[in-house]
Amino acid sequence: MKLCMIGTGYVGLVSGVCFSDLGNNVICVDKDQAKINSLKKGKIPIYEPGLEELVLKNYKNKRLSFSTDLKDSVRKSDIIFICVGTPSRKGGSGADLSQVFNVAKEIGKSINKFKIIITKSTVPVTTGDQIEKIIQKTNKKKKFSIVSNPEFLREGEAIRDFVYPDRVVVGTNDIKSNKILKTLYSPLISKGAQYLNTSRRAAELIKYASNAFLATKITFINEMANLCEKTNINIEDISIGMGLDKRIGGRFLRAGPAYGGSCFPKDTKAIINTADKFKTKLSVIKSVIKSNDNRSNLLLSRISKLLKNRLKNKKICFLGVTFKANTDDMRDSSSLTMIPILSKKGAKVSYYDPTGHKKEFNKYKNVSFENNIKDALKKSDLIVVHTEWNDFKSINFKSYLKGRKPIIFDMRNIYSPTKMKQQGFKYFGVGR
Ligand code: UDX
Repeated sequence: MKLCMIGTGYVGLVSGVCFSDLGNNVICVDKDQAKINSLKKGKIPIYEPGLEELVLKNYKNKRLSFSTDLKDSVRKSDIIFICVGTPSRKGGSGADLSQVFNVAKEIGKSINKFKIIITKSTVPVTTGDQIEKIIQKTNKKKKFSIVSNPEFLREGEAIRDFVYPDRVVVGTNDIKSNKILKTLYSPLISKGAQYLNTSRRAAELIKYASNAFLATKITFINEMANLCEKTNINIEDISIGMGLDKRIGGRFLRAGPAYGGSCFPKDTKAIINTADKFKTKLSVIKSVIKSNDNRSNLLLSRISKLLKNRLKNKKICFLGVTFKANTDDMRDSSSLTMIPILSKKGAKVSYYDPTGHKKEFNKYKNVSFENNIKDALKKSDLIVVHTEWNDFKSINFKSYLKGRKPIIFDMRNIYSPTKMKQQGFKYFGVGR
């Protein structure tokens, strides 16, 4: 099939490349000329394992192409995916849909024959209805169908999640569009993915409800970890014990720092905004947001306590600053809350991240990036394991620290407390 992805961020680029790998002809469109130029040269703007190889393979065999010309790309395609950003509105809690609506207007002006226009970006309930109205303005004789097909790709695992999804959700009441999309996704359905056809609004809500539920699960286990710390119980036992119940399931029950990333913080706020608009309450999600906002303060006060409330001139080393492993994404990472506060309180923070230096910390004095783990650990009074990169799982602290015994605060519980204590470290995790 002939597809066009508008927006070459995490969602558009990954989905576009994967669709081309399934044998479709895909044009990835972006208004950013520099980005398109570098994609044409095989340079990938994001860190996503396996993505580069797939781009090169499919670009070479000409199933994948890149363009800045939206009009021409839309005209050449049968199915158009809108994959532009829907960030939180500045100063507000709802999603900023200006990019989606601008793209919808452009598509409206470019339609030459029947098109299926799909929102893959996460968009609030009724956005599909609004896009339909926008496009109708320039296309009185309806030659298009607006469908919601949310993505459920995790950064760092996006290729695998695309190829082996738990489910494919397609929101449309149009029989023809549903049939075409079922065919498009048939290679994944034959490998076991569930195909679910719902109304357009239901598909829009499934995405927000899923992310809000996962955020709730994490926040729940984080609060349980707080209770475990007071009662001398190991949170890992609780996660396993709860997870073995098939109704609950063990995933997303790992205690750690506040959840972050490009989706959970933004989507939990946006679903509250939708509920407000429709004059109903989502009190569970409201308290999840509050609890998560408070989590970084709670972990900061633990850091302070570990350093006997004397942060001035203390050297604190952060291992990993991204919101989770296998991504270079800093959006809403809890390190962005914690490191600036520690720096303001006079601590000297060094950090190492496998994805390199982060410009977000440039403006803070006493915060420095080190090129390797060994240099980052130098002279540290406290080591914070913030992100669960594999690179950190077998660090030989003994040889790196040469007899020094700084405190280790493992916010991801990646080390064995027994082994760390045997080596003489003052080692602390979360909820155990
Ligand atoms: C998420 C959704 O999973 C995905 O379906 C959606 O399309 C986009 O948003 P992503 O943002 O890549 O994906 O991150 P995810 O792996 O879901 O993790 C989100 C946050 O939860 C991270 O900060 C992570 O560290 C945290 N987390 C996750 C925990 O703290 N504990 C867990 O058990 C799982």
